[in-house]
Amino acid sequence: MRDKLEEILKIAVDEIVKTNSADELEQSRVKYLGKKGELTAILRGMGALTAEERPVIGQLANSVREEIEAKIAERREYIGKIEQERAFERDKIDVTLPSKRHKLGKLHPITQTIYEARQIFLDMGFTVVEGPEIELAYNNFDALNAPKDHPSRDMTDTFYINPELLLRTQTSPVQIRAMRGKQSPIRIISPGRVYRCDGVDATHSPMFHQLEGLVVDKNITMGDLKGTLDMVAQKMFGAGTKTRFRPHNFPFTEPSAEVDVSCFACGGSGCRLCKGEGWIEILGAGMVHPNVLDGCGIDSSVYSGFAFGVGMDRVTILKNSIDDMRLLFENDLRFLSQF
Ligand code: PHE
Repeated sequence: MRDKLEEILKIAVDEIVKTNSADELEQSRVKYLGKKGELTAILRGMGALTAEERPVIGQLANSVREEIEAKIAERREYIGKIEQERAFERDKIDVTLPSKRHKLGKLHPITQTIYEARQIFLDMGFTVVEGPEIELAYNNFDALNAPKDHPSRDMTDTFYINPELLLRTQTSPVQIRAMRGKQSPIRIISPGRVYRCDGVDATHSPMFHQLEGLVVDKNITMGDLKGTLDMVAQKMFGAGTKTRFRPHNFPFTEPSAEVDVSCFACGGSGCRLCKGEGWIEILGAGMVHPNVLDGCGIDSSVYSGFAFGVGMDRVTILKNSIDDMRLLFENDLRFLSQF
């Protein structure tokens, strides 16, 4: 029995030092020390021994157990270290590899123009309001004093959703929304998309962008309109830019004007950009019609106001020397990333 114990010890130790993983080690532990293990089997057989042999063999068996246990503990520690090193190796990352570059996007050139204009007006004390692109025909036409037979109301000029609802043809209905039920003074701008049944060509698109302006207070005059637009034109197109008012007609302003700025490419002497004119038309403007004020509950005998509407796409094209409006909407990044 003594020989048997010593043999078990030798075999067990040989096996334990060859194990290479926690699983293998556990299998060996069960094999030698487990309930059905070889050492346990020997201890069970001790009943057959004589009274003298029993304590001697018992002691030997215990020390064999202890030695095996110590070997297992030693090996466990070693395997733990090895496994940790393996994990480090497996999860290694190369911090010296160059990272993937994130391409930084840009604002669309029209958005850039709108933001620039918006900042100019914010600096002058205007606030920004927005109106819906799907608008009541009433706000888009009737409240703006547009007579029933006005050509812009025609099906061929306007996208109707039903007889009462349409895609707004201008940002001017925001004037109505800003005035109705409000107390003066009002000083707002409203940028946004507008829609008209136009065929696509170099200067037309069925969807484009306007920026509406509206000021209502006591004693607002045409002089305020001209002074405001002069200042905006200089900030937008450079110091020295002049404005020119030409008589025009809009149903909701009286008097009305189309407004040109002196050509910022040639300074007014005439060039390709201004088609030899020296002037470039950029907006419509006028004094808010008394019918429109009264219709919104603002007493036109006490208050007056001016309004204007600028085409943002057109300004973007002019400022960036873009010769075809379609380029702005084709979303070709090779083009757009230049701005
Ligand atoms: N809404 C007009 C247009 O689309 C422009 C405009 C705005 C004119 C405000 C006068 C006052 O042409």
